[in-house]
Amino acid sequence: MTKRTIVTLPGDGIGKVVLNQAIRVLDAAGFEADYVHGDIGWEFWCKEGDPFPLRTQKLLEQHKIGLFGAITSKPKDKAELELAPELKEKGVVYYSPIVSMRQKYDLDICLRPIKTFKGNPLNFIRRGFGGVIEEPLVECMIFRQNTECLYSGVEWTNPPDQVYDALMTHKKFRDNFTWCPRPELAVSARIFTKKYTGRILKAAFEYAKAHGFDTVTVCEKPNVIRETSGMMLKLAQEMAKNEYQGIRIQNTNIDAQMMWLTKNPETYHVIVAGNMFGDIVSDGFAGLIGGLGFACSANIGPDIAVFEPTHGSAPKYADFNPSIVNPIAMILSAVMMLEHIGENAIATKIGKAVADVVEEGKVKTYDMMKLPGTPDAISKGAASTSQMADAIIAKLI
Ligand code: NAI
Ligand code: MG
Repeated sequence: MTKRTIVTLPGDGIGKVVLNQAIRVLDAAGFEADYVHGDIGWEFWCKEGDPFPLRTQKLLEQHKIGLFGAITSKPKDKAELELAPELKEKGVVYYSPIVSMRQKYDLDICLRPIKTFKGNPLNFIRRGFGGVIEEPLVECMIFRQNTECLYSGVEWTNPPDQVYDALMTHKKFRDNFTWCPRPELAVSARIFTKKYTGRILKAAFEYAKAHGFDTVTVCEKPNVIRETSGMMLKLAQEMAKNEYQGIRIQNTNIDAQMMWLTKNPETYHVIVAGNMFGDIVSDGFAGLIGGLGFACSANIGPDIAVFEPTHGSAPKYADFNPSIVNPIAMILSAVMMLEHIGENAIATKIGKAVADVVEEGKVKTYDMMKLPGTPDAISKGAASTSQMADAIIAKLI
């Protein structure tokens, strides 16, 4: 087996904490790799005016696989304020490094698996017929287009003349928005292209085919957002008709989907959505299986792939010593990385160890005990972040 080189991108806050624990688990499971550290995140924005420095980009370009913790992002004006004095008024603008990374390397396929762990005290339960309590088994792969939509970064406050003139060519704009003084107007472009919409749909269809699912749910809002959501739905219907006969397209609107996810989540197995609605629906589904402490993801491009928990840097927990956050989302993201590079035996081993620890129920982080996220969670019986990783390591073999 050739030894892999993995670029570790801890980022900010709890990103650093959980990534370290994931690497301990990877080591203990026998994954042989060299880890090279990549600077990324808020610190590098403040010091260098670039949260995703070129040297980190080079590492990813060289080694192709990244394991990412989380970064802190702040609104534009706050970002500007925290810049080193010598960088202020140099025209540098803050962009989220993970969003930039997805765009730069075409990491357009985002996979967000949502799978119930048996025995997880955070599992969603509902009242069924006759008042019985049901705990539906959720098993759904969410395909989120990762580079377009409202995350394109194409946006303006006080749009320049050419943009304003272009907007004025649209009747809806002329009829409804000309009352607004231009400096008070903000516009974010929701961009979908046929190529990338087709790619995320294809990924979803291929997954459905490989796993024997007969339905792909397109979760957008084509009745209102007719051009972009409409493009995705139409393309999905064409693909189902021409290339994936036997797989049915189910069309749900994001708003209704958020209601249905608590009514019948077990009926969804493959969901595909644009960037914004994919983000929303995947966090919503994550709530059914334990929340952000359990939600892992993969960002996959033609050449490079980066694996990350879907949670952020949770700044309020960043300085806890010992740390109390749940490392499982990060560890499961590492499992997705192993599957991607073909280390299936080690992936299965770690996945099983996590499932065993959760089912056994002896070791639980504060979120699994439904405790407030305060430092005294540990004295109330919650496991620390490293104790959870220890328990998972103890179950390996
Ligand atoms: P967040 O995901 O950091 O935290 C939200 C809440 O979820 C936390 O307060 C905590 O209650 C819970 N939580 C998150 N991770 C957990 C874990 N591992 N174990 C247990 N509980 C956990 O989202 P928030 O507060 O909206 O954003 C904080 C920062 O993170 C912001 O600067 C935001 O921009 C950034 N962010 C970064 C992301 C990324 O790096 N991909 C994704 C989402 C947010
Ligand atoms: Mg999110």
